[in-house]
Amino acid sequence: MTVPAPAAGPRTAAPADTVAGLLAEISRVGADPHRGGYSRPVFSSAEFDLRAWFLAHAAKRGLDVETDRNGVIWAWWYTPAGDTANAVVTGSHLDSVPGGGAFDGPLGVASALVALDILRAGGLRPERPLAIAVFPEEEGSRFGVACLGTRVLTGAIDVDLARGLRDQNGDSFAEVAAKSGFDPAFLGPDPEALARIGTFIELHVEQGRVLIDRHQPVGIGSSILGHGRWRLSVTGQGNHAGTTLMTDRHDPMIAAAGIVMAIRDTARAQPGTRATVGRLEPVPGGTNVIASRVDLWLDARHPDDAVTAAVVATILAEARLIAANEGCTVQLTEESVSRTVSFDSALRDHLSLLLPDAPVQDTGAGHDAGILTQFVPTAMLFVRNPTGVSHSPEEYVEDDDAEAGARALALVLADLLVPAST
Ligand code: GLV
Ligand code: MN
Ligand code: MN
Repeated sequence: MTVPAPAAGPRTAAPADTVAGLLAEISRVGADPHRGGYSRPVFSSAEFDLRAWFLAHAAKRGLDVETDRNGVIWAWWYTPAGDTANAVVTGSHLDSVPGGGAFDGPLGVASALVALDILRAGGLRPERPLAIAVFPEEEGSRFGVACLGTRVLTGAIDVDLARGLRDQNGDSFAEVAAKSGFDPAFLGPDPEALARIGTFIELHVEQGRVLIDRHQPVGIGSSILGHGRWRLSVTGQGNHAGTTLMTDRHDPMIAAAGIVMAIRDTARAQPGTRATVGRLEPVPGGTNVIASRVDLWLDARHPDDAVTAAVVATILAEARLIAANEGCTVQLTEESVSRTVSFDSALRDHLSLLLPDAPVQDTGAGHDAGILTQFVPTAMLFVRNPTGVSHSPEEYVEDDDAEAGARALALVLADLLVPAST
């Protein structure tokens, strides 16, 4: 197994215009010296640098590029007739979680460019248009809602709600969009853009171990586990760390600690559940200050949406008891929910014919493909990650596997772009 390279600095001397070569070009963008890995929030300077990188590569390939009113980039390779209907769309995202890996998102974008190069080098004459899409805020790391770009595009989120979402600085999505050159009045569902998509294929780094265990570089997605995010706000009494006796405290941090443990135990008691608290914020947050409030974020996932809802209800009931024992109260706010979705079965089976060695696998990770599959035939390809780790600097893809992924994507795209050849 290759040891992951540090985030900053070219990780490889891979040739230009290979997937590894393309990713090496952006290996310093958004590198996070404090957390490690990459922090590339949507509409940050890092994400705009990545957009510029993609736009340069699209221009180099003579693609017709538009960034739409929702901040989605579309780079078009038209048919000779120049139409945009029934397009085959591939792509992914360029934003990251805080301190994330190099591949979650950018691998799908770089692979799309290389797949296009492969198709053109092979002299393919498309009978359907191809677009490479880059979707904003897939991770929901800045505004809290997963896959915000595709939710807004498809109307899966109320646009006023979306405009009012706030980042950790308190800036709303509308304000940040405006500062980034997007008129918030024009954010919203885009039925015309959606209607152009005939088929969507997202290639993504695998975020688990199926492909390691199956000794295969590429897999085919079957479904995405339902997942959601909830904020638990535990309120107590802010006070002085030195003068407040232990018996006199209403410390929400103590309640929060108990709630975190209860979340772990509740998830363990319900097979198939994954529950995580990866973010916790004491307010005001001082070493010598008993917090007045602690916000903690619950990420809960299960294949059965009813089980997820029951798990969250159990957690809330337990959180209330734990908080009451500390003289605190707790409030739960739902921030983002994605139900379990399956990809188009006919398309998935067709991909299995094209890629007979590729395991068909579900995933516990969310993707824009999970939003789009509710509107258009959608499929996913996964590329082996030899560490099995993701949302971490340890996420990795071997150069050979990255090229195998791009070739698999090219094979699938060729089949879709020239239907008569199948
Ligand atoms: C995104 O990668 C998620 O699964 O949260
Ligand atoms: Mn992703
Ligand atoms: Mn991710």
